[in-house]
Amino acid sequence: RTAQPVIVAIDGPSGTGKSSTSKAVAAQLGLSYLDTGAQYRAITWWMVTNGIDTDDPHAIAAAAGKPEILSGTDPTDPTITVDGVDVSGPIRTQEVTSKVSAVSAVPEVRSRITELQRAIASSAVTGIVVEGRDIGTTVLPDADLKIFLTASPEARAARRSGELKGADVHATREALIKRDAADSSRKTSPLAKADDAVEVDTTDLTLPQVIECVVTLVEEKRAGK
Ligand code: DC
Repeated sequence: RTAQPVIVAIDGPSGTGKSSTSKAVAAQLGLSYLDTGAQYRAITWWMVTNGIDTDDPHAIAAAAGKPEILSGTDPTDPTITVDGVDVSGPIRTQEVTSKVSAVSAVPEVRSRITELQRAIASSAVTGIVVEGRDIGTTVLPDADLKIFLTASPEARAARRSGELKGADVHATREALIKRDAADSSRKTSPLAKADDAVEVDTTDLTLPQVIECVVTLVEEKRAGK
């Protein structure tokens, strides 16, 4: 029996442990890894850097095809470049974080990035873990396994402010709730749980527990394939 590539979609809001879980699962199982949030951050970084008004959806739409975005899919060393420039640092700034929801709501941006995501997923030899907001619903509706990670707003804010090294928990919580509301209410491909996704509430789980849970689900799927 030849092993078929396994496609895993992991969606959910920020602060649920999505990136840490997805990377670890991919590394453990020898799969590729794609952080789709990093792609939306990268196109947002390009818009900001090139003076595009991120409050103007028409300007964003007109520029959406311009930057060349390349993602490296090794889970132990994920990389992202825009027009050949490594932007893994700059895409995590407050400025990009505060503008990414507006940029990623523009349909021309989504269709461009979705196309990149599908090409990367279909070229993964052993399979891939793709994390984002609309992977199970829109990007890869035929994924072998769909996971939807959740956690209480308190747990998510605490994790994010831990990552940001001592950032104010209250301010982080407000910013995070605002971004999730924008991502969930946009017209095109909002953050949503696919009907056939397995929901995992990570509020009271440690990261190793979440990883183990997802690895087990992938192995069960693979065994049944
Ligand atoms: O996962 P993250 O916080 O790096 O994602 C940044 C933003 O990108 C998020 O606020 C919404 C957007 N995004 C999206 O619209 N669709 C995806 N599949 C992934 C991210």
